[in-house]
Amino acid sequence: MKDKDTKKPKGAKKEELQAVKGMRDIIGDQFHLYQGFFEKASEIALYYGFKPIETPILEKEELFTRGVGSDTDIVNKEMFSLKTKGGDHLTMRPEGTASIMRAYLEHGMQSLPQPVMLYYYGPFFRHENPQKGRYRQFSQFGLEILGTKKSIADATIIRIFVTILEECGLKNFTLKINSIGDTECRGAYRRELVNYYKKHLRSICPDCRERIKTNPLRLLDCKNPGCQEIKKEAPESIGALCADCKSHFKEVLEYLDAMSISYEMDSSLVRGLDYYSRTVFEFFINEENSDGEETKPLAIGGGGRYDYLPKELGVRKDVPAVGASFGVDRIIELESYAKLMPRIVKKPKVFFIQLSFEAKLRSFEVIEILRKAKIPVMHSLSRDSLSAQLAMAERTKTPYAILLGQKEALDGTVIVRNMDTRSQDTIKIDKLAEYLKKIK
Ligand code: HAM
Repeated sequence: MKDKDTKKPKGAKKEELQAVKGMRDIIGDQFHLYQGFFEKASEIALYYGFKPIETPILEKEELFTRGVGSDTDIVNKEMFSLKTKGGDHLTMRPEGTASIMRAYLEHGMQSLPQPVMLYYYGPFFRHENPQKGRYRQFSQFGLEILGTKKSIADATIIRIFVTILEECGLKNFTLKINSIGDTECRGAYRRELVNYYKKHLRSICPDCRERIKTNPLRLLDCKNPGCQEIKKEAPESIGALCADCKSHFKEVLEYLDAMSISYEMDSSLVRGLDYYSRTVFEFFINEENSDGEETKPLAIGGGGRYDYLPKELGVRKDVPAVGASFGVDRIIELESYAKLMPRIVKKPKVFFIQLSFEAKLRSFEVIEILRKAKIPVMHSLSRDSLSAQLAMAERTKTPYAILLGQKEALDGTVIVRNMDTRSQDTIKIDKLAEYLKKIK
């Protein structure tokens, strides 16, 4: 049977067991890179007063067709959808914002003090063409502030995103920002855009001709080289903003200026999801390839305001909101990423070596003493030979080895050996943690 969604790495036989195309196993140190990022980003979000939320991976398909928009690439081409035995149409979440708004409304969070500030992370699913930094299962970290129109909320999201990137050691990123207006002014802008593009019908790509009818703002998102000249001259949304949108956007930019956050205004930035209004922004990174040449800017995160999302979902409630999410896979794969490690992964200080069955019996007692004292320890309990265990201690460069032999097991002691100087001390097991904390 041919399965188009099964990847075939070079040299792999057809019948070999493989993960689904665009989806990967994340193992060992690579897992830690993700965990380190999530810990750092969550810690920063918590300091800013955000609360965690986890929503299900499966949602009703309608949540995304209505929320993200039926004319978007995500809904049109990229959703993993399924029909359950009971006949429900469900979708593996392609993004988090619609789910967070659903959860906010479902749990009556409107009755909480506003705004409600939430952070989340986890896997998301889009049926895209896999390549470096683009997967069918990928990880996002996101922030959402729900229940306020205020421009300071937009600035808060951007502030925290910049802080997270800086704490990850990333400097060469660019923030692009635009305002696409609200229901008051967007209609007029859309008409202006359509009129302009209609004058160039013969020079634009077939997709753009379609976009004129279905989703005019997406005309500005076209990557087709033939459309770029026309796009350059297209009317800008900023020029069509109503007075309220203009002053909202001006305030956002004033906050960014006050925090010395640099940005580039980009009139063609409209984002690929339909729920946005007013502020939209995106973070890009410029890295050099191995030949020292700058590569194409890579989008590592983006977001914006989505004041009308509840209405799109068919709910007659006003919940102005703003948020953003990072593409975590893209960040941790960057050369300049600080390779943050999770808190739990500490460099082991001691290697525990046991010799004889009596010693094995007391092994867990020693390991538990060290764990409770928060002294990271390595061991190889399934090994018996002294030389094999010592060789592992040497290889892992742990500064101390703890030896527990038959005699020590009976005496209730261990030998602590300095792996550098080879000097040794015999220590009572119940004094071990205290002893190890004193020595460097
Ligand atoms: P988005 O721009 O579609 O926005 O996705 C955010 C980030 O996820 C992108 O900038 C990119 O880094 C990463 N990403 C997207 N697709 C893939 C993929 N196939 N493989 C790897 N990384 C990917 C949203 O999802 C909105 N929900 C953001 C938001 C939150 N807006 C308001 N609140």
